[in-house]
Amino acid sequence: MKKVIHIVGARPNFMKVAPIHRAIAARTPLQQILIHTGQHYDVKMSDVFFSDLGLPAPDVHLGIGSGSHAQQTAKTMIELERVFLEHKPDLVSVVGDVNSTVAAALVSSKLAIPLAHVEAGLRSNSRHQPEEINRVVTDRLADLLLTPSRDADVNLLKEGVDPERIHFVGNVMIDSLLASKERADQLPVLKNLGLAPHGYAVCTLHRPSNVDDPRVLGGLLSAIAHVASRIPVVFPVHPRTRKMIAEQGLNSAFERNPNLRPVDPMGYLEFLALTSQARLILTDSGGLQEETTALGVPCLTLREQTERPITVEEGTNEVVGTDPDRIREAADRALNGQGKKGRVPEYWDGRSGERIADLFSRFLGVEQGSFQAASA
Ligand code: UD1
Repeated sequence: MKKVIHIVGARPNFMKVAPIHRAIAARTPLQQILIHTGQHYDVKMSDVFFSDLGLPAPDVHLGIGSGSHAQQTAKTMIELERVFLEHKPDLVSVVGDVNSTVAAALVSSKLAIPLAHVEAGLRSNSRHQPEEINRVVTDRLADLLLTPSRDADVNLLKEGVDPERIHFVGNVMIDSLLASKERADQLPVLKNLGLAPHGYAVCTLHRPSNVDDPRVLGGLLSAIAHVASRIPVVFPVHPRTRKMIAEQGLNSAFERNPNLRPVDPMGYLEFLALTSQARLILTDSGGLQEETTALGVPCLTLREQTERPITVEEGTNEVVGTDPDRIREAADRALNGQGKKGRVPEYWDGRSGERIADLFSRFLGVEQGSFQAASA
């Protein structure tokens, strides 16, 4: 039986792998092995996502944990080499752009195991972002490049990637969103937080460029405090951000503003319940830019650029940078009812996992499903 290994490591990976895993199980005779590198290890950053998304427990858990980029990537590579040699997969499938993704890409390529990259072709064109380096390297090595949007195809073609390797399959993360929305809607998240539908904003921050520098983080918190002077702001705080806020003595931003509400990182369903009814979202996350576009909720991206331009061109996203005045002005506009409107992009339709499963079957020469991915 042909074998596919899936790699997950950090929070944004789980919602991408779940629909692929489910579709492969339903539509193909492929054997699947799920490997968790352990890049994220807190219950709230990892375990809760498995139950929320119906992802089976990992077959292998590497327990890598935190470290510098080199340490985290190198440790993951050493462990994955051992596991790949033991299991001898026919295909390794990686998603997204985290350190676990690039580590798996390097190891599988050097062992001459075919590599599929889901969410290929996204580019911020900023090498200061560690994820951009991970994307470029992974795409360079991948045999199958599965793209979420047509702009990603264009980026890959510009970089000289063979068009035969590029497959536009749509946004697999939106599969998870659509499959979970009904369950999320039934949770009493708003009630428990005392919030009215569309009567609050949500904020998330975790990019090193935003949270590691006290001046940038202080400016962002002041802009968010302005939003909180108009409407409650729920702020699920990433562990990196929590640490930085404490180290930089910025806790007072919360103490002064009862409307600015820090909470622990949330599970997938809880967070979806919160975001889907928000009036406005302020974030530096990549995934949330896409989820807000799918949900039709206005989003302000607190970064200078996005690797997901389709969320701006077609969706509800506005890239507003990190200047507090600019953020305040954009937030005021959105709260006054002039938030960006948009439409849902092509193939963000809940069937990307099925397209990927069918593509993997064809690639490995096993029984084919009926969904076709579009070639570049
Ligand atoms: C990683 C990804 C980023 C992704 C983000 C989502 C890379 C280069 N970055 O960034 O693309 O958007 O995950 O969260 O792979 N920590 C905990 N508990 C955890 C995980 C992390 O306390 O479960 C702490 C670590 O000790 C570290 C910090 O959070 O201090 C950052 O973790 P790390 O995995 O290095 O990167 P992220 O910032 O989470």
